[in-house]
Amino acid sequence: MTLSLSRMTADDVDIAAAIALAAYGRPYSRHDIRRYLALQPDGWLMARIDDAPAGIGGITAYGHHAVVGLMATHPDFQRRGIATSVLGTLLAYADAWGVRAVALDATEEGAGLYRRHGFVQVDRTVVWGLTGSPVARRAQRSAQTVVAEGAGTTELAAIAALDAEVFGANRARLMARLLEEGPGRACVVRDRAGQASAYAVAQGSRVGPAAAGSAADGAALLDAVLKLHFNEPPRILVPERNHLAAAVLQARGFVRQRSTRYMVRGSATALGNRSHLLGLASFGLG
Ligand SMILES: CC(C)(COP(=O)(O)OP(=O)(O)OC[C@H]1O[C@@H](n2cnc3c(N)ncnc32)[C@H](O)[C@@H]1OP(=O)(O)O)[C@@H](O)C(=O)NCCC(=O)NCCS
Repeated sequence: MTLSLSRMTADDVDIAAAIALAAYGRPYSRHDIRRYLALQPDGWLMARIDDAPAGIGGITAYGHHAVVGLMATHPDFQRRGIATSVLGTLLAYADAWGVRAVALDATEEGAGLYRRHGFVQVDRTVVWGLTGSPVARRAQRSAQTVVAEGAGTTELAAIAALDAEVFGANRARLMARLLEEGPGRACVVRDRAGQASAYAVAQGSRVGPAAAGSAADGAALLDAVLKLHFNEPPRILVPERNHLAAAVLQARGFVRQRSTRYMVRGSATALGNRSHLLGLASFGLG
């Protein structure tokens, strides 16, 4: 049995999605995988045992901060050291790139592997799902709040700046891509003076990335974003440390579905302000 690692390419997306489905027991969006490859073409790996595709994983760097995602080994090939080898290689990339902090969201199955590589749990990430149509809320915007609904690339600078403050790294490239993919699928909260204070992007079946520093901003954002069309009832991936989010989400018909362990290797202080992060872009992108 020979284990080999090679760079994942666009030709591997279907195989990667099949491995993820077999490992996680639920479909993984091909669209997300293609986006991962586009953002960090040199960060995604396919592990093979002899010639058989067996495991996957990858990393996206945003300057000094990186996120590991899509770690999965096909059940036929688990417990042979594949994920250990994939993760070791990804962390060597991070070191070579000068990354100071690597974050990820771990399942219970994966947590031991990450602990052995120096990751420490610092929070959880909760998956909230809408069970039916969003509960319509009467707009309760304060007199100081204006929501730019259906914002597009003209709002990129404001969105990227808010995101950098809350996420702790510059993700302008990701924000630009999301706004190009979904024109008119972002909302920005501004005060009457025009200062942006919160933003959310609507993906096909997910709300996020999103950031809001107050319950009022979070509520205004969600009310605006939930008017948009989604392919299926949307989910939102919310840091548990965001204590304002639960009440705002529950009031709009979201229920808590599951959670993962948010783990960090390296300098946790470099990681922004998760209490104001309302929604991740995806597990793989943070
Ligand atoms: C988590 C996951 C990626 C691990 O993949 P894997 O390739 O089986 O991982 P490894 O083989 O490197 O390590 C897994 C275990 O096998 C052990 N192992 C490694 N090589 C071994 C070998 N040759 N013989 C026996 N055991 C071995 C490891 O010590 C580890 O043990 P532990 O978890 O009890 O500490 C895989 O279980 C998976 O895909 N799970 C479902 C999806 C998921 O949860 N992904 C993680 C998302 S964060």
